Amino acid sequence: MAHDKPPFIVHHFDSIGSTNDYLKELADAPEWTVVVADEQTAGRGRRERTWHSTRGEGLYFSVLLRPPRSAQLLSLLASIGVAEALVNLGLVGVDIKWPNDVLIGERKICGILCEGAGSSVASSRVVVGVGINLSHAQFPADLTIAATSILIETGRRIESMSFLDAVLQRILAWYRVLISGGDARIVERWEELSTYAFGQRVRISTDAFELNGVTSGLTSAGGLVVVDDTGQAQTVLVGEVSRMRRTNS
Ligand code: BTN
Repeated sequence: MAHDKPPFIVHHFDSIGSTNDYLKELADAPEWTVVVADEQTAGRGRRERTWHSTRGEGLYFSVLLRPPRSAQLLSLLASIGVAEALVNLGLVGVDIKWPNDVLIGERKICGILCEGAGSSVASSRVVVGVGINLSHAQFPADLTIAATSILIETGRRIESMSFLDAVLQRILAWYRVLISGGDARIVERWEELSTYAFGQRVRISTDAFELNGVTSGLTSAGGLVVVDDTGQAQTVLVGEVSRMRRTNS
C-alpha cells in the first residue's frame, strides 16, 4: 500500500541542552515532531549518564510518538530502525543489545532514551531520543573501548540530515507495523538482528538486583527471557545487560 508523504516536522537547532528535554516541553506538538541538534550541551543517556554530544560529530535527535500501547516494543523498534539504516549504509557487524543499544561488534554506535512526556497518562506521549556516532575519529579516554562511529568503521563521513531521514523512514516503517498489531514481527526482527537474543550467557544489573543466566528470546511484549542458574525462566523488563565470558569451572 502506498503511504502519504512522511509526517516528520523537523526543528533543527545549532545547539541545545538536550533534544529530549526540549521536546518533552512542547506540550501540543503533533506526533512525528522531531528535534535535532548539531550539538547538545546537556545530552543525557540512560541511568542518568551524560551522552557525549560534541558539535557536528554525532546525530542527536528526538521524535515524539503516541503509541497505542507497549512502550517497550516502541523502544525495541527504534533500535531496529537504526540498525537497518546502518546495514543499508553497508556497515558490517551491526548488533543490538537489549533493549536498544545498537553496536558494531562489541562497540556501541547508538544509544536510545525513551521517556514519557507530559502529565496525562491517557495521551501516552513518548519521546524517543536517539544519539548516533557519525564522525568521531576518537572518543574520550573513558569511552574508547566501548564506543565506535560510522567514520571509524567505514572511513566515510555521512551527511547527518540525510542519515536522519533514512533512520526516521525505518522507524516509521516499523511504527506502522506496531500500529497494525504486528508485535510478533517486531519481536522476530529484533531477535534476527541481535546476537544477544538466544543462548548468550549474560549478567543483568539493576540498582536492585543482579541476575546471571542464558538468554532465550523475547516475550511478546519485548521483555528479555533469561534462564537463570537454577533453570528458571525469568523475564527481564529493566536492566543493563553485559555479555559474560564462559569459564571452564
Ligand atoms: C543511552 O544511554 O544509551 C541513551 C543515549 C541517548 C542519547 C540521545 S541524544 C538525543 C537525545 N537527547 C538526549 O539528551 N539524549 C538522547
